[in-house]
Amino acid sequence: MNITVRPETQADRLPVEELTREAFWNLYRPGCDEHYTTHLIRGHADSLPDLTFVAEVGGQIVGSIVYTRSWVVNEQGQRVETATFGPLCVHPAWQRRGVGSALIAHTRALAEQKGYPAILILGDPHNYCRHGFRTGKDLNVGMPDGRFPLGLLVLELQPGFFAGHRWTFHASPVYEFDPAEVEAYDARFPPREKKHQPSQDLFGMLIRAVVE
Ligand SMILES: CC(C)(COP(=O)(O)OP(=O)(O)OC[C@H]1O[C@@H](n2cnc3c(N)ncnc32)[C@H](O)[C@@H]1OP(=O)(O)O)[C@@H](O)C(=O)NCCC(=O)NCCS
Repeated sequence: MNITVRPETQADRLPVEELTREAFWNLYRPGCDEHYTTHLIRGHADSLPDLTFVAEVGGQIVGSIVYTRSWVVNEQGQRVETATFGPLCVHPAWQRRGVGSALIAHTRALAEQKGYPAILILGDPHNYCRHGFRTGKDLNVGMPDGRFPLGLLVLELQPGFFAGHRWTFHASPVYEFDPAEVEAYDARFPPREKKHQPSQDLFGMLIRAVVE
């Protein structure tokens, strides 16, 4: 299978949102909000379009990775810009064939070239340990409230960057929005049934889990 990873263009915006909705629908909650997140990121100052890519197979978009600016701040108040991706998704019909890995590998190399010291995400460790992500706790990177969520994952692009300091992770405010806005936005897409799936229960545990 030939996977092409290329920059997202203006024309890809709607197809990418449709793909994102397809990939996340009912996965972590009844319905999903990730297509709205992608929509918001595009118009936001923290969007990183140079790192935002799609994956194609046979000329069809099957995967998407969207990046935003984030920051880490240490105990001395030193603030350093980092890169964060999310949503990352692959169309359900194309999952488990290396598309997600190709998107991560491509953008990781580019972020490294651009001089970012690290990529930090909030995600499911199952998907990311294979790519070298480590739990924030092991690198002394926590949330501003002092917690070390299981989902806070850090990929050092400059080895040893975090050593010798305590850090907090600050994601872009673009990820914080009123859930009521999602309903209104989702009405632009074809109606779909919202329902419960066990993956939502697992996600509910994951987002409350912290690393000791
Ligand atoms: C998570 C996600 C982005 C991963 O993308 P993907 O293209 O399925 O990922 P990959 O194919 O690169 O790797 C996934 C698995 O397939 C396996 N795999 C990769 N290529 C393979 C191949 N050719 N044959 C068989 N297995 C393969 C990988 O080893 C990996 O296995 P693991 O899950 O047991 O570790 C995708 O599944 C997705 O969109 N999920 C729904 C949305 C989501 O959860 N996004 C992430 C939020 S944290």
